[in-house]
Amino acid sequence: MRGFLHYSAWLTQGEQAAIVADLRALVQAAPLFSPMTPHGRPMSVRMTSAGRFGWVSDRRGYRYAETHPSGTPWPAIPESILSVWRALAPAARAPECCLVNYYGPEARMGLHQDRDEADFSQPVVSISLGDDGLFRIGNAERGGRTQRLWLRSGDVLVMGGAARLLHHGVDRIAPGTSLLLPKGGRINLTLRVVT
Ligand code: SIN
Ligand code: FE2
Repeated sequence: MRGFLHYSAWLTQGEQAAIVADLRALVQAAPLFSPMTPHGRPMSVRMTSAGRFGWVSDRRGYRYAETHPSGTPWPAIPESILSVWRALAPAARAPECCLVNYYGPEARMGLHQDRDEADFSQPVVSISLGDDGLFRIGNAERGGRTQRLWLRSGDVLVMGGAARLLHHGVDRIAPGTSLLLPKGGRINLTLRVVT
């Protein structure tokens, strides 16, 4: 849709469960936290990262950082997640950040662009796990008409080429639509090249 490549149910149940198991170890090493917006309000989505860079947000603004807020380096990106990037973005450089977003029942993410990376020729690969999320896609500029689609567990979205800088966000999730995560909710994994 609008140049976003949507691979519906691209991951099998077994592959999804394997990623969730790897994420359990990941959040032990780098616990989820509630980033502050530059306006000083906590975001509704809880986050952590893996890879050389993680994405952090506080009163100094949004940026990539080489350490978790606790001061420790981010864990490596699990192989189960790297293999999705290699399969769907074979020509791209290796990802340097895997952002882990956790959406509880009330969480959402406002329309934004992914534009803190240095090389926009590199795609963004986004993996959805758990409850369905209502994803919104806009335009390269602010405003204008938007389109929505439901992202379901196992779906993968590739944002590359002319679609790399389109605005996007998550209006809401649909609690209870997936049994993948024992406590419910939605996980989105976003793989990016940062430098
Ligand atoms: C994001 O744009 O960072 C998250 C998108 C999603 O949760 O699907
Ligand atoms: Fe994004």
